[in-house]
Amino acid sequence: MNMKNELLKTAIEFAKDAGQLILENTTQSNSIKQKLNHADLVTEVDQLSEALLRDRIKTMYPDHWILSEEANGQANPFEIIKQKKSGIGWVIDPIDGTTNFIHRIPHFAVSIGIVQNGVLIAGVVYNPFTTDLYYAAKGEGAFYNETPIQVSNEREIEEAVLATGYPSKEWKENSTVVKQIDALTGKCRSIRLLGASSLDLCFVAKGLLSGFWHDELNPWDTAAGLLILREAGGKVTTRFGELFNLEDRTLVASNGFIHHSLLDILK
Ligand code: IPD
Ligand code: CA
Ligand code: CA
Ligand code: CA
Repeated sequence: MNMKNELLKTAIEFAKDAGQLILENTTQSNSIKQKLNHADLVTEVDQLSEALLRDRIKTMYPDHWILSEEANGQANPFEIIKQKKSGIGWVIDPIDGTTNFIHRIPHFAVSIGIVQNGVLIAGVVYNPFTTDLYYAAKGEGAFYNETPIQVSNEREIEEAVLATGYPSKEWKENSTVVKQIDALTGKCRSIRLLGASSLDLCFVAKGLLSGFWHDELNPWDTAAGLLILREAGGKVTTRFGELFNLEDRTLVASNGFIHHSLLDILK
């Protein structure tokens, strides 16, 4: 097995272990703390999941770097990604979809992306509640559980079911996303706000959604899903149509066919 596949296999094991820990520690009274505002939250379970993942990685790969939400959240993650252009690194969201987790909506995931010399080489998104597992290694296709997945076939924006989400900083009236939803209303088939960006990207990869857009995501929200979606044949750019990378702050993802129309409307 080559190194990329070894790392993917290990990342899947770690994601499942973290998922198990999340389930074991879920109670109705998990302590919840506010970060930026009343809509930006962290629980002790996010921290437990992160500690397990960081621990496992440091023990097995002491020379790999790690970027994860709760440990690195205070620093500028985009600056960190810019500086980490060599070596192997793990970009981790210990629970993507914390609000869903807190409200016991079974739509959240452990997300792990692995980067080598600035290039994504493996990605895993695991929902412990449903046991849905999405993964990809660069150049080897994307999988849902054991099955290869591909993006959907919708060619027209009229047929598209899209998803988006609120950047934590934009939880207010007249935000950009509200205007964008308004601009798409009546043009696409429907719009969903599912609350876990890593899974949203995987839903596009599996052909459940035709597209997804979101501003101000962090690298840990996108790293794994980005590779999985590209490996499933999808397209991911900035809102300005440039190839998306982990340093970018606007993301537009799709099955490829509707990409231009979507970009046009979101402009
Ligand atoms: C959040 C989710 C959500 C997105 C938010 C993110 P978190 O991540 O990905 O879908 O709309 O902007 O912050 O905080 O639950 O890990
Ligand atoms: Ca968060
Ligand atoms: Ca997240
Ligand atoms: Ca998180």
